[in-house]
Amino acid sequence: MRSVLSATITPIILVLVQSAGCAVSQDGQEAPPLELAATVAALIGDHLEGVSDSEFSAAKAAFASREDADEGLGPIFNGLGCGDCHSQGALGGASEALERRFGRVVDGRFDGFDDRGGSLRQLQTLGEWVTGNGGVCSVPLETEPPEATVHDVGRLSTPLFGLGLVDAMPDSFFQDLARSQSRSVRGTARTVSVLLPDPGDPDQRVGSRRVGRFGWKAGVPNLVQFAADAYLNEMGITTQHCFRGQSITAFATEPAPNGVAVPIECEDGLPGVDDAVGPCTDGLTEIQEDIELFAKFMTFLAPPERLLSERELQATTSETQTASTQTASASTQGARGDRNNTQNSGARLFDDVGCGECHTRRAFRTPATPHNGVPGNFTFFPFSDFLLHDMGALGDQIGNAGDSEANTRRMRTAPLWGIRFRTLLLHDGRARTIEQAVQAHSGQAADSARQFARLNGQDRQRLVQFISRM
Ligand code: HEC
Ligand code: HEC
Repeated sequence: MRSVLSATITPIILVLVQSAGCAVSQDGQEAPPLELAATVAALIGDHLEGVSDSEFSAAKAAFASREDADEGLGPIFNGLGCGDCHSQGALGGASEALERRFGRVVDGRFDGFDDRGGSLRQLQTLGEWVTGNGGVCSVPLETEPPEATVHDVGRLSTPLFGLGLVDAMPDSFFQDLARSQSRSVRGTARTVSVLLPDPGDPDQRVGSRRVGRFGWKAGVPNLVQFAADAYLNEMGITTQHCFRGQSITAFATEPAPNGVAVPIECEDGLPGVDDAVGPCTDGLTEIQEDIELFAKFMTFLAPPERLLSERELQATTSETQTASTQTASASTQGARGDRNNTQNSGARLFDDVGCGECHTRRAFRTPATPHNGVPGNFTFFPFSDFLLHDMGALGDQIGNAGDSEANTRRMRTAPLWGIRFRTLLLHDGRARTIEQAVQAHSGQAADSARQFARLNGQDRQRLVQFISRM
């Protein structure tokens, strides 16, 4: 069975190698890397303290490995391994891989066709093959239902560097950030239901609420759950877990093309749940091994090395004001003011035109003893509030069943750290430069984008340089 299946999969691998290679865009053109992309930091891909080299290597190998149908891949899927779509800069980075979603709006409410497999359209299928007992399996590709009104929305893969530090932050940190923002740009700390708790965190239980912080829509509360979600939705590999004696089957059902289940023998090479831990007797807590390894890799993956000096990074508006007395009134003049003054630092411009409201320059600091084992009291700068903002026309119009249209316009502030390793930007990859990304900002970020557009060329360049060094 294996040889028949791998014959079907071979052409898919070739396509994926191209898209994971990061330099080839959808139309086949060479993509020029973003400014400063050539300055590859030596430390990208390293691990934080809290895990041994060998443990991290094992976790990394799991993340890099590619599966076939005999290991549970399919019947429909987007990629063969996590590394296919997370590779820019180092394993765990972003890529040019785009996924596709669709949906419709009925009476002002979003409908993602949950009864027909949901808003994600998997782009690959195991295809057609002859089973061991001579039957023919033919798994169709998913298609957009004709009733869909929101079409073919792109979702770019994101970088995973430093996300264990973000996972370690308590909900209150994000909620406080939201409260500190001015009304016109205030973000929403979206709380979501925990489907797969991180066993290390005594506060997480099945069904408890936590501030969502992962994914373009901040829809996922922790990295363990994201790993199980990705294994299922990207690769079609189903898992079952135990949490305090309860069996967790939220990720145990094979994805069905357009919601039409394929016969069991055609799901993939494994009958039943692909990777199950089994009965959860005696209060057992056990996360399936692959999921645990993916989560460990992501948890300890170090943040991208910062090229900004401490001084560039920490510069406050008042400090730079004292440093350049001529521009003392520039902050009140705001972006309306003349910006010919060469003293305008990147950090100051960043704040003045309002980028820092959402892409906050605030230092994050992990708790003294983080539940997931990353270093305590560790300071980092992701340049995001991880909150949802109404981005107007830039919103992707995708939501969960029943979301208002306003809700579907909400996007998580994209973290800007390590942006120099990227070649495509924004949720659908439409931008190739920081300037293009800002131009597309709308809704709550429209004013900031306007101020950016009014900067003189030199200041705009300085601001872009500042961002490229985050
Ligand atoms: C086919 C491409 C593809 C594959 C394969 C893939 N991912 Fe992703 N990944 C994406 C995309 C696209 C997103 C953005 C998803 C979204 O927000 O809707 C993403 C986002 C993520 C995020 C959220 C990061 C953030 O910015 O908050 C995590 C965590 C993640 N992936 C982990 C994994 C793991 C673990 C695997 C393997 C089990 C995996 N991915 C396999 C494409 C992929
Ligand atoms: C109101 C909040 C807000 C403000 C203000 C804002 N942004 Fe954003 N930014 C976002 C959100 C949300 C996204 C994700 C957009 C998407 O989903 O495509 C984003 C995405 C980006 C990206 C793309 C990152 C990626 O990973 O693809 C860049 C670059 C960026 N912003 C730069 C800026 C700059 C520079 C400014 C100031 C001129 C600014 N932003 C102001 C919220 C904001």
